[in-house]
Amino acid sequence: MICAPTPQGISEACRLLRAGQVVGMPTETVYGLAADATQDHAVARIFEVKNRPTFNPLIIHVASAVEALDLVEMSLEAQSLMEIFWPGPLTLVLNRKKDCPVSLLASGGLDTLAIRCPAHPIAGRLIREYGRPLAAPSANRSMGISPTSAEDVQASLGDQVPLIIDGGRCEVGLESTILDLSGDVPVLLRPGSILAESLEAIIGSVGRIKKDRSVSFPVKAPGMMRRHYAPHRPLRLNATDCHPGEALLGFGSAGSLPVILNLSEMADLTEAAANLFQMMRQLDRDPYTGIAVMPIPFTGLGIAINDRLQRAAALEE
Ligand code: TXA
Ligand code: MG
Repeated sequence: MICAPTPQGISEACRLLRAGQVVGMPTETVYGLAADATQDHAVARIFEVKNRPTFNPLIIHVASAVEALDLVEMSLEAQSLMEIFWPGPLTLVLNRKKDCPVSLLASGGLDTLAIRCPAHPIAGRLIREYGRPLAAPSANRSMGISPTSAEDVQASLGDQVPLIIDGGRCEVGLESTILDLSGDVPVLLRPGSILAESLEAIIGSVGRIKKDRSVSFPVKAPGMMRRHYAPHRPLRLNATDCHPGEALLGFGSAGSLPVILNLSEMADLTEAAANLFQMMRQLDRDPYTGIAVMPIPFTGLGIAINDRLQRAAALEE
């Protein structure tokens, strides 16, 4: 349902967000599909509604740079850029704080977090009133075109989204510029309306990603691009038994199998997605020498869960 950005509309959106639901949110770039970034289950709902086949990390939206202090390790560069470009279409990737309350699913299991402070007054009002960071990818079905009006969101996601706040047409119409400040050198991950040259005027040279995914920059630390989380222990998929030393991660009814943790006893894929990264981390410790994961169906969110598990298993080899 599309609703006007009245105080009642904003309150209703906050009520839905508290309940773990998704809400369509206008920003100056594109409309976002927002959920409480601190609730794993709410974040899983985003992937479900978008029908995303992979758990790409999401952008976390805050009301000001002050809130970012609780989430990420600040650097001088980040501070300068926030002062100049926030609120605005600039997303910064920074290292998560140790006690960062944002769902690991929202950052795709990475140790970094992409944060942005949108310039749209209604987005600002919603985030401020809600009082917690909101995870929000563009509010369209996976592979679809990013929505720049409330009607676009309605057309793409329809009744999957209980509430879409109408903030008119998006001024920018193009997703935010993403700058990675989590490594040794700043790297532009996604071009946007804030140009690399404008960033360089403040913080000096910025690396660009070339077509072959390498970085056009004298990078000190190779492999800095994406520190994907993979467990240190070998990961075995589609396990129907448990080998000595392994920690068995269950899904659905485990019968007599010695399951240590279960992604979802009810075989609920949304719940499993919400638990995935947390539980992989919890089992990646002594005395276990490996992690075995019970089969997960390749339907709905199960596709993204299997994608993530396969990558984590492959990285181990
Ligand atoms: O303009 C925007 O940024 C819109 C509006 C709604 O704010 N949001 C948006 O979110 O475009 P999304 O989820 O569609 O784009 C997220 C992008 C992905 O390409 C993802 O790979 C990257 O941000 N990203 C997120 N977290 C990251 C991280 N920790 N490290 C590297 N890249 C990250
Ligand atoms: Mg998108």
